[in-house]
Amino acid sequence: MPTDTHFGYRQVPLDEKQALVDDVFHKVARRYDLMNDLMSAGLHRAWKDALVSAINPPKTERDFTLLDVAGGTGDISFRTVAAGGTGTRATVADINADMLAVGRERAFAQGLDDVVTFVDANAESLPFPDRSFDAVTIAFGIRNVPRIELALAEMQRVLRLGGRFLCLEFSNVDVPGLDALYELYSFNVVPALGRIVAGDAEPYRYLVESIRRFPKPDTFADMIRTAGFRRVSHRVMSGGIVALHSGWRL
Ligand SMILES: C[S@@+](CC[C@H](N)C(=O)[O-])C[C@H]1O[C@@H](n2cnc3c(N)ncnc32)[C@H](O)[C@@H]1O
Repeated sequence: MPTDTHFGYRQVPLDEKQALVDDVFHKVARRYDLMNDLMSAGLHRAWKDALVSAINPPKTERDFTLLDVAGGTGDISFRTVAAGGTGTRATVADINADMLAVGRERAFAQGLDDVVTFVDANAESLPFPDRSFDAVTIAFGIRNVPRIELALAEMQRVLRLGGRFLCLEFSNVDVPGLDALYELYSFNVVPALGRIVAGDAEPYRYLVESIRRFPKPDTFADMIRTAGFRRVSHRVMSGGIVALHSGWRL
């Protein structure tokens, strides 16, 4: 097992990474949703819509349960219950109490607190029984988890047979021209926006650097296969800015 990892471009002991990540999301929680819109110019909505289409919750009364790991303020869960029928329920699992608190407030405000529930949980050790969810998602969360292999194994464990795993994550821009523009934007505009809107550029510098460190889509697809998922596939969106990975528990 590796004993160290990266926090942005810094080499840190594996056990320290989680505390540093927690500090990032503690700082940004209240402004997280606004910053998502600003930094992606609203594009995160289209990426999340693609994820929810792939989840494809039933439009009927049939029971359907989603677990959204590293679900933060609950975006994927709210979108999934809106897309599904009256039997659709979602559980947001996240390690950060501040992100969960913002999510709970959103659920209360929308009268959805009985269909979207929030659980304090580490992706590396999920507090749910085997085979207990119809779908498991993780959006822009896996690259923050220190032990990705453990998290993938846990998400496979809690998925029922025939259930689908979906992961949305930033990827590698490989369109000539767009790559240079994206680089410029990521390393200059994103931290500057962080300073202006959230009062601190550092968390956003970490987020940008962690994207660079994340495995390429083919390598990550292999990790998903190794965790036991079948029919593993992925597609990139917006010139490679993000990739949507899919696997089934069969
Ligand atoms: C970029 S946010 C994504 C939030 C949400 N999925 C979305 O798409 O808006 C990353 C989330 O991962 C959570 N996180 C980081 N490490 C985690 C871990 N080990 N277990 C569970 N959640 C974790 C953070 O607290 C944060 O809420």
